[in-house]
Amino acid sequence: MTERARTSPGRRSLLGAAVLGTAALGLPGTADAAERGAGGRAGGHGSYRDLPVPTVIGHRGASGYRPEHTLGSYRLALDMGAHIVEQDLVPTKDGHLVCRHENDITATTDVASHPEFASRRTTKRIDGVPLTGWFTEDFTLAELKTLRAKERIPGTRQENTLYDGRWEIPTFEEVLRWADEEGRRRGKPVWLYVETKHPSYFRGIGLALEEPLARLLRRHNRHRAHSPLILQSFEPSSVQRLAELVATPRVVLLSGAGERPWDFVEAGDPRTVADLVKPAGLTWIASFAEGIGPTLDLVIPRDGTGRLTTPTTLVDDAHARGLILHPYTMRNENTFLPADFRRGTDPTAYGDAFGALRTYFGTGIDGVFADNPDTALLAASDFAEG
Ligand code: G3P
Ligand code: CA
Repeated sequence: MTERARTSPGRRSLLGAAVLGTAALGLPGTADAAERGAGGRAGGHGSYRDLPVPTVIGHRGASGYRPEHTLGSYRLALDMGAHIVEQDLVPTKDGHLVCRHENDITATTDVASHPEFASRRTTKRIDGVPLTGWFTEDFTLAELKTLRAKERIPGTRQENTLYDGRWEIPTFEEVLRWADEEGRRRGKPVWLYVETKHPSYFRGIGLALEEPLARLLRRHNRHRAHSPLILQSFEPSSVQRLAELVATPRVVLLSGAGERPWDFVEAGDPRTVADLVKPAGLTWIASFAEGIGPTLDLVIPRDGTGRLTTPTTLVDDAHARGLILHPYTMRNENTFLPADFRRGTDPTAYGDAFGALRTYFGTGIDGVFADNPDTALLAASDFAEG
């Protein structure tokens, strides 16, 4: 990222000014309003509005190179220069928050090779989907700590299997401590991007995520509007609940256009993601969040052959409501890229990720979740240079 990009008073500042009358100032009854009453800017870290644009978010750390959601993956993302490092959170049986993409730990740990846990294998419905495996909510933290992380997609990322067994499952508290220490060492805060996973499901079994998360954020002084942390969830009600607990900036994640957030399904709310990306849906989101995290396909849809088509109006529509956009997920391998940018016939080989990133950045998005933060950072630097 160039100095010009960091300091340019361009669209970022204009957006910041535009949003002062809306979401960034919070709403009556939210924690933002409470914090303003208690003294306004807190923590001295600067706003998410001051992050470099395009912002590069290390997706599950640097998961293109290391088993996801390990301290090794987070460290590498930070060392590569990622502007933010992402954590997904699920609970243990005894209420600790741990970093896993989902509560089913079958694919990302060595739990299957632990005979003492063989009887914990079970089938359950999570958000309406039947799953068979081992689940974090059936393990105490002490038990989970006997497991080791492994690569989720060894067929695609064989090199990453070199690191299988090296790291344990980190707790979110350990990550907060690590981020605090790294921030002191580097002389600047380490930004985190924290997602509540399956929040309605967990609340339903007595393991709600938001309250313990808010307690940890307060303990580490990351509960303020200017704390170096962004909260995210696919369930808008989880984002709304967090807004009542802390002032930390918030993003609503948006999946496929035809899908419904699981909390909407449970509440009988008929709206789909297609409704939420319409102007009325975005205006509603802007009443309790600062941004959206759509799929890249919601920004530029693909056709039946996987090639990119015409960008939607989502970027302009969101920006008009003061919302930032951090779409997901950029990955370098052909199998994940739009067909336009695939190179050769090996699905596991790298395609033209720079070309894809240039195209996505050209739509005006504010950042991107990337499994390969180094690639995305180079592309962001190229883009900022023009
Ligand atoms: O949180 C952004 C992105 O990570 C959402 O997708 O499924 O990888 O958590 P997922
Ligand atoms: Ca995530």
